[in-house]
Amino acid sequence: MKVLVIGSGGREHAISHRLALSKKVGEVICVPGNGGTAHEEKCRNAVPPAGMTLVEGAVEIAKKEGVDFAVIGPEDPLADGIADALWDNGIPTVGPKAKGAALEASKDLSKVFMKKYGVACADSETFTDKEAALAYVEKKGAPIVIKADGLAAGKGVVVAKTKEDALKAVCDLMDGNAVGDAGKKLVIEEYLQGVEISVLAAVSVKSGDEKNATIRPFLPARDHKRLLDGAQGPNTGGMGAVCPLSDVTAETMAQFEERIMKPTLKGLVAEEMDYRGFIFFGLMITKDGPKALEYNVRLGDPETQAVLPMMDFDFADMCLSIIDGSLGSFGMKWKSGFQVAPVVVSGGYPLKYAKGKKISLDEKKIAEAGAKVFIAGAVEDSEGALVTSGGRVLACSAHGETFDDAWKKAYSAIDGISFEGAFHRNDIGLPGAAESN
Ligand code: AMP
Ligand code: GLY
Repeated sequence: MKVLVIGSGGREHAISHRLALSKKVGEVICVPGNGGTAHEEKCRNAVPPAGMTLVEGAVEIAKKEGVDFAVIGPEDPLADGIADALWDNGIPTVGPKAKGAALEASKDLSKVFMKKYGVACADSETFTDKEAALAYVEKKGAPIVIKADGLAAGKGVVVAKTKEDALKAVCDLMDGNAVGDAGKKLVIEEYLQGVEISVLAAVSVKSGDEKNATIRPFLPARDHKRLLDGAQGPNTGGMGAVCPLSDVTAETMAQFEERIMKPTLKGLVAEEMDYRGFIFFGLMITKDGPKALEYNVRLGDPETQAVLPMMDFDFADMCLSIIDGSLGSFGMKWKSGFQVAPVVVSGGYPLKYAKGKKISLDEKKIAEAGAKVFIAGAVEDSEGALVTSGGRVLACSAHGETFDDAWKKAYSAIDGISFEGAFHRNDIGLPGAAESN
């Protein structure tokens, strides 16, 4: 089989690698891919023809190459209708159509959905009028959470500890200064206290086929978003991930299934969403159990780099079961032990950082640790050398039968990776590393 993977990050490298491990997959075509997928066995990069959008280009490449199915990594092309376009052209696609993708693209819509179907979540109200939003903050006080409605690349949420900060956030977002039009509509939400986790899941909901509609959760994972050890410093796109989580009990997962996952499935079916893809539940584990913070309509990054290597099943087969509606009976077996995946970033990230730094990988050291390097922000230069091209450069993912074992392997492999200005956290997965409030 030939598979098309859309995206260019570490998540897409991990997806492509996992697909390529399947005996059934002959080739993975990554659009546009990165310096990691360029070198991955059975993988090849392709770019959309000049003048075409990513959606048009994906359809063009999928048809020309005769791919058997497509897997979409990021949320933006999903919101732009890439799954609709591929399905319309006869290409089975893992990734929701635009209607389902709106669950991430609009915070307001996702809250309306959660409330309508009884998904456990924070109380909230939505505002398009600045004076009304300011009055609501005055009435509710702090702490309180202000969220821009639209996609804002992680910059649209302000967890305000004081009323002054909350009022300022309302003004910044609604005046269009912080995230442009994404902030014209705001969701103002009750502050939830607890510790965060990510539950990624496979979804197969096909309109007209209620009987086979299902969501199958993966092992819980955690992303460490702050730049520095001990959850200090600025927010980033993710400094590392761990899977599974020893602080999450079976009872919490059972509550998640009853209070969040099942009502979500009910909603996807009732709204007749043709949702065949992945969903990522961002959860806060509060003293009253798990509450949904958000839906993402894709796999998480860098969670994917820690979750997919724990799979003890054929990822391509699972994608096919999502497409054909047999996901409910798919044998989802997981490895024992833990996967730890610290991320190496460019010095200065998340603010200004240099690009084009040559990356040196000590393959022997990495192989001795049994680790896998998933490339995110790095490309091949004209001589075929791997050079940095982004803030989050790569994740170094290792498995161990115990957490300590996995952690030591990942960090021993990271010692074999260098480039000018390289920086990483030293506490991914350790107690005290997780964000909590
Ligand atoms: P979101 O994009 O909605 O997940 O929000 C981004 C981050 O803001 C989350 O990962 C949390 O750390 C934090 N956050 C969002 N909603 C809340 C809430 N209701 N209470 C506390 N923290 C929140
Ligand atoms: N790790 C958070 C995200 O993918 O949005």
